[in-house]
Amino acid sequence: MGTDPQPMDSGAPLLTVPVDLGSAAYQVLIGRGALGQLGAQIIKRGFKSGCRVLVVSNAHVSGHYGETVRRSLEHAGLITDFLELEAGEVHKTPATVALIHDRACSHQLERGSLIVALGGGVVGDMAGFAAATWLRGIGVVQVPTTLLAMVDAAIGGKTGVNHAGGKNLIGAFHQPQLVLIDPETLATLPPREVRAGMAEVIKYGVIGDPVLVDSLEERQQLNCLEGIGKSLLLQILRRSAAAKARVVATDEREGSLRAILNYGHTLGHVVETLTGYERYLHGEALAIGMAAAGELSLSLGLWSAQDQQRQLALLERSGLPMAAPDLDGEAIRNCLLRDKKVRDGRVRFILPTGIGSVVIRDDIDLDQAVTALRATNRGS
Ligand SMILES: NC(=O)c1ccc[n+]([C@@H]2O[C@H](COP(=O)([O-])OP(=O)(O)OC[C@H]3O[C@@H](n4cnc5c(N)ncnc54)[C@H](O)[C@@H]3O)[C@@H](O)[C@H]2O)c1
Repeated sequence: MGTDPQPMDSGAPLLTVPVDLGSAAYQVLIGRGALGQLGAQIIKRGFKSGCRVLVVSNAHVSGHYGETVRRSLEHAGLITDFLELEAGEVHKTPATVALIHDRACSHQLERGSLIVALGGGVVGDMAGFAAATWLRGIGVVQVPTTLLAMVDAAIGGKTGVNHAGGKNLIGAFHQPQLVLIDPETLATLPPREVRAGMAEVIKYGVIGDPVLVDSLEERQQLNCLEGIGKSLLLQILRRSAAAKARVVATDEREGSLRAILNYGHTLGHVVETLTGYERYLHGEALAIGMAAAGELSLSLGLWSAQDQQRQLALLERSGLPMAAPDLDGEAIRNCLLRDKKVRDGRVRFILPTGIGSVVIRDDIDLDQAVTALRATNRGS
């Protein structure tokens, strides 16, 4: 991880986190006011003045930050067009990607052109997928504006959309040219979305970064930006980006190690699915999934009650739910068996063995997993 300030053409220095993927290597740049440096950073990466750029966003995000982005791109001589999509997971579909393709066509995007994704994970996944498929692949720059997308979705090259048969079933690996993170954009993010992003941050701590966990534990309140504070926020962004970069550089296509990023997701996904994707945000379901995975580790003797307590305390300080709703045992079982990552009828669980370490297990008795998930709502 390079934390040296990077000399800039203009504006404040940015933190740099490299993603080492050989010929597809790129950087994650993080810093206040980074948005205003977008155009200059794109030129630095070899795109010439006169290059065509399509910014994909939604009306809400674009209303806040579109003008800054447009000015920065046009100042760099880039021929810029904007497309505003409908916001929300329900619009993460092939039909919406077709709208991006239509605009790519009318804005005459060529092989050397660029798509910029300005928004949360929904915009990032769709703009990335459109870039992966337009002319068999053009460049994409991810400019995430939610905490979840900054620490997770924008980095690593997974792009795609939902199919009626399930979430993220259609997609491609397509690494960005650059990820540009401006923490100032979080100022307008609804507090519930900030909390949901914190679930992914806690995930990184538990799977491999005890130093991050120590830093988080120093704060009484992690449920809002004021409680987190500016310096911890920068540390969170840098360490989470570095953690994701490390895992992706070792295992770009999720052969093995990348699976640990799914910590909390297997049981969290059950909660999301069985509540119809409406009751919980993804990060909230993930929090319940991590609490349940911790219970499972506890019942298997893989980690201590004290470790589980530390994890639960962080989730609580972040204002996240930890108790699963009342769910039918048979429904949980069936949902686990339909998981995308089931192989030969064996469900893969990522289980914590301590604060900062996990194991991948596919030999877990499903009844024990059901019991662990239900155990999270003991007290409620
Ligand atoms: N590609 C990956 O590796 C990866 C990883 C994790 C999640 N995802 C995907 O990410 C998606 C979830 O992303 P998300 O949590 O960012 O949700 P999101 O993209 O739906 O954004 C949440 C809401 O916040 C609004 N918003 C975004 N930035 C804002 C800002 N700065 N100010 C005010 N409002 C703002 C959006 O318009 C939206 O209404 C899911 O589709 C998930 O599958 C992808």
